[in-house]
Amino acid sequence: MNTREMFAKAIKGGYAIPAFNFNNMEQLQAIIKAAAETKSPVILQVSKGARNYANQTLLRYMAQGAVEYAKELGWEKPQIVLHLDHGDSFELCKSCVDFGFSSVMIDASSLPYEENIALTKKVVEYAHKYDVTVEAELGVLAGVEDEVSSAVSHYTKPEEVVDFATRTGCDSLAISIGTSHGAYKFTPEQCTRDPKTGKLVPPPLAFDVLDAVMEQLPGFPIVLHGSSSVPQEYVDMINSLGGKLPDAIGIPEEQLRQAAKSAVCKINIDSDSRLAFTAAVRKVLTEKPGEFDPRKYCGVARDFMEELYKHKIIDVLGSDGKAE
Ligand code: G3H
Ligand code: 13P
Ligand code: ZN
Repeated sequence: MNTREMFAKAIKGGYAIPAFNFNNMEQLQAIIKAAAETKSPVILQVSKGARNYANQTLLRYMAQGAVEYAKELGWEKPQIVLHLDHGDSFELCKSCVDFGFSSVMIDASSLPYEENIALTKKVVEYAHKYDVTVEAELGVLAGVEDEVSSAVSHYTKPEEVVDFATRTGCDSLAISIGTSHGAYKFTPEQCTRDPKTGKLVPPPLAFDVLDAVMEQLPGFPIVLHGSSSVPQEYVDMINSLGGKLPDAIGIPEEQLRQAAKSAVCKINIDSDSRLAFTAAVRKVLTEKPGEFDPRKYCGVARDFMEELYKHKIIDVLGSDGKAE
């Protein structure tokens, strides 16, 4: 299905739909098991990097298989979207539309404003012919966005959003309010330190910008990228088992919970699942150095990810039970 009805319900109900990236079978199984068990609508996201890693044909049919798997797990009417994450050209978006994706993102946020509008509009005109919904982006997130990287963020300008949404016809809008991609969302200099634990405390998201956007576009679906919280238990586990992730830090879940209650109806999470996977693999291989069957450590990684996804759905986004 596309995102139209899903988002309308999420805004009304004060929750957000999880958008989880997947690159491999274990991630996909964990996402589907978590969504099926909690009866949560879910968006499966495929980035350009994922297409290059896993092959786009394979990923597309894996997603189709995932719908059948969800039914096998007892989820009678699965609500699953297959979405292109950070599409950077008309051709890429068109190829995903032609290939059966139900939703695409055109991320032209690094282009000048008028060029962002022109490219987004072109994708919308094509995608809507096939009832495929389109996410666009306004404002720049710090960090890496697929092959585009930016050292600094530029918050979305609320005064631009009505003009942008009207002229492009996009179905949802990703905005920049201080989130960023990856496991290092803030530098230690941007944070304070908790005197008790010594852990970094990040600065708050710009909820004033979100409020101003919602005032300009009442009821319009807003998307948050870069929303991993970088759970410290995984970071600590990885670091204590030979890894090196110094000062990795994410968005506090309390702030995501707050955002999910507003017009933010899609929250993107990728890095947290990478951390869960890596922590599990390090744990198994440290505890059992003789293990060489990938199913033994990938299976544990899958369990870790499933727990993480369920936690996000139930305790952070509030989307459990919304796809009964
Ligand atoms: O927004 C970025 C996503 O986490 C995808 O990352 O391009 O490394 O697959 P990737
Ligand atoms: P994280 O790196 O915070 O998980 O963000 C993922 C994302 O925005 C995918 O588009
Ligand atoms: Zn993103």
